Amino acid sequence: MSLKTADTIQSSDQTLCDYYLADETELVKNLRVRADLRQPLRTKISTKAIELIKTCRKKSNHRDVFDAFLQEYGLSSEEGVTLMRLAEALIRTPDSDTAQLLLRDKLSQKDWQSHSGESPSPLVNITTQGILFSSNWIRITGGTEATGLMKKLGDHVLFQGVRSAMQIMSRHFVLGKDIHDALKRSKTYQKDGFIFSFDMLGEAAHTRADAERYRVSYENALKTLINENTTYSSIKTAPTLSIKLSAIHPRYEYSHRHDCVPALFADVKAMCLKAKTANMGIALDAEEADRLELSLIIIQKLLKDKDLKDWEGLTIVVQAYQRRAIKVIEELINLGQKEDRKFAVRLVKGAYWDSEIKRAQEMGLESYPVFTRKENTDVSYLACARLLLDNRDKIFPKFATHNAVTMISILEMAERPQGFEFQRLHGMGELLHKEIMSRTGIKSRVYAPVGAHKDLLPYLVRRLLENGANSSFVNQFLNEDISADDLAKDPIKQTEENIFTTNPLISRPRDLFAGQRLAALGLDYTQSNTAAYLESLPSKASPINAKSIINGKERGNGALPILNPANLDEKIGQYSTIQTVDIKRAVSSAKKTRWIKKPVNERAACLLKAADMLEEQREEFLTLCVNEAGKTWSDAVAELREAIDFCRYYAEQARNGGFESRQGLGTIACISPWNFPLAIFLGQIVAALVAGNTVICKPAEQTPLIAYKTVKLLHKSGIPKSALHLLLGDGPQIGNALISSTGINGICFTGSTRTAKRITQTLAETGRPLTPIIAETGGLNAMIVDSTALLEQAVSDVVASAFQSAGQRCSACRFVCVQDDIADDFIKMLAGSMDLLTVGNPKQLATDIGPVIDQTAFNM
Ligand code: FAD
Ligand code: 2OP
Repeated sequence: MSLKTADTIQSSDQTLCDYYLADETELVKNLRVRADLRQPLRTKISTKAIELIKTCRKKSNHRDVFDAFLQEYGLSSEEGVTLMRLAEALIRTPDSDTAQLLLRDKLSQKDWQSHSGESPSPLVNITTQGILFSSNWIRITGGTEATGLMKKLGDHVLFQGVRSAMQIMSRHFVLGKDIHDALKRSKTYQKDGFIFSFDMLGEAAHTRADAERYRVSYENALKTLINENTTYSSIKTAPTLSIKLSAIHPRYEYSHRHDCVPALFADVKAMCLKAKTANMGIALDAEEADRLELSLIIIQKLLKDKDLKDWEGLTIVVQAYQRRAIKVIEELINLGQKEDRKFAVRLVKGAYWDSEIKRAQEMGLESYPVFTRKENTDVSYLACARLLLDNRDKIFPKFATHNAVTMISILEMAERPQGFEFQRLHGMGELLHKEIMSRTGIKSRVYAPVGAHKDLLPYLVRRLLENGANSSFVNQFLNEDISADDLAKDPIKQTEENIFTTNPLISRPRDLFAGQRLAALGLDYTQSNTAAYLESLPSKASPINAKSIINGKERGNGALPILNPANLDEKIGQYSTIQTVDIKRAVSSAKKTRWIKKPVNERAACLLKAADMLEEQREEFLTLCVNEAGKTWSDAVAELREAIDFCRYYAEQARNGGFESRQGLGTIACISPWNFPLAIFLGQIVAALVAGNTVICKPAEQTPLIAYKTVKLLHKSGIPKSALHLLLGDGPQIGNALISSTGINGICFTGSTRTAKRITQTLAETGRPLTPIIAETGGLNAMIVDSTALLEQAVSDVVASAFQSAGQRCSACRFVCVQDDIADDFIKMLAGSMDLLTVGNPKQLATDIGPVIDQTAFNM
């Protein structure tokens, strides 16, 4: 048996993909059983954990400043969040003018007085006094416009103060600025019995140059560690090097697996071979959930590789907060057995919880890939730990946690204190781990980040979130206001007592607009099964027989498609009018319809039905968007979701917007462009229809098939053919004729400013200058990037805005204004990022930029 990602195995039994968004309730029930922790063992664990917490609290005679700081400024207070934002943005802001403005902006708005004198730590109180003084200073010297010598001096002092506070904070989590520095500092901890895993800071490379820089820094660290000791006596105590794969490849994405898997495998294998010579280890950190399958493909290759056969130094990280966790471990055990390979598994709960929740919501997934309650993650951790402990003969478990209850549970489950180790992050859990080490003799390894401030940010933000969250164990560990009994709560019992297994405060991603509308269903093409499904669509698509549209077989009473039959079966082709359209017929039919008399709720119901139908028939619409408009899959999915959302949004607006008492304008001409041939086309139509109008629509001549299928779907959703007419054909000719028709009472137009002007001119010429026109026309969108911006974020956003939809969206970023102080770095990163874009056939998932719409656009 091997890892069942789509790249490796096609089998009928459950794959990792089936577990991706598995039902949380069923899963937790199952995990509780698999954790196999019964009474009275659970009571024993709680008792021991309470004792351990109390002992540690007694031993913490001096409160760590950082800990006291987080107690005062946790993420539950607005001031805590402000300080975290400052920590994040201030370090990277290179010029002091902007840094001072940022400080003034952030510090002036909050209630620092409420923290004054609250903390048991004098140093924290002094800090609060400093901030208080500074914010008063800002108030006195007036808002954000700093002038005058006094002001400048004051700002300078303030700036230096806050910046050094932020540096203290980052030093708390980083062992050294380079590997030599870190090795030196590690000696102190080694005396206490700690062993090490060094992590070179840097992740999510945006350019090949960055990835190469990070790769070289790993390589150098490895060299240094090998120089330190050419052969470590035991792989169990030798240092490991923790690697983030996203750091060493700039497109570590499932859609780019054909490129990144071979490259990453080669790089990691080379490092493993070097580590093997010194009998030391390499760990592959677990990152975002959308990279899991990809990492497993690489891991599988490493475990199959003959050159690494006798080396037991690979550590694979599994995140218990993922619903797939237990399945991943099962598959790893099977793979190890099949390949006759031993390796280690570091079990963590997971460091990206907030971003996983946000991503699933943004993507409109059916559920979350992670658990929604902390205790569910804890139970998953215990079930995974049980499975690992039961397989100690095959896998060496490394339990990474700072939670005393979790650690005691593991000790009790393990029965014998052998065949595993504990791990902690540098700057966290030192007291607890020391205590356990001294009681049990079990080794504890410190995960030690190494690097410069500029590569620290994402790591620092995760640590601040972890330490600042009031749900997190470390946040409460030394807080005497929380009793040890409360802190030592049994997670199994908690999950049993929860009325709802899922967290009622976190709505399902699709219920994000709860009470208003259902969010449009998304497709996660970072999952192998969805990626394979999308890539199979073009070959499955049944071609629309456009000739039959022309021949009238498909022609409804109202729909009047007029096309040039030439090239119609070619999906990306040119069309032109062959005859003048019978607009009069459409207008007179629209005037007679009973649609406008329908109650608003019935009209809205048709839109809701249309939205559901679009979701059901998404294969067809996605394929059409790719085939006819040259959209990439991700653009097509986004477009379909927007179209669905328009239907639900306008239905909701109409039902709750007092439309009952209002009348529509009459017959609306909807004229739309090709760049969003589904979303803009449909959005205009349904908005007009639900407001009690009838519609004659004229889509762009480049994308008639999408328009035709959409109108058919709308008719099937209950909108009468007499209320919605489709005119296909040449823009100037048919568009002009339509606008000139006196039966048209209003116009919805999206397109160029030139055409919009022509429309108003035609209206004036036909004696109807007061006809309402809603025109959304083009423009030039700019982005302004100041020196407080995170460059990676700014570059990602510019690339997305400028190049999605092949840069053809009206809102595409056309120019960027960058502050001088960061311009060189920005331009370098942007250019490097653009170099990574794949231009090509949109049917392939790896394509970032598909074709522009037609030859004219291409020539331009
Ligand atoms: P606890 O307070 O018991 O647990 C906190 C954790 O619970 C959170 O981090 C989150 O995972 C989870 N959680 C919080 N709220 C919720 C909720 N509402 N629903 C569901 N779950 C929730 N993380 C990685 O992702 N990849 C790595 O490679 C990695 N390597 C690590 C290496 C070491 C040595 C250590 C110690 C940690 C590593 N981590 C890694 C970070 C790790 O994920 C966090 O430190 C860990 O989650 C904290 O758990 P805890 O048991 O210490 O604390
Ligand atoms: C992180 O970088 C420790 O890998 C973990 O958050």
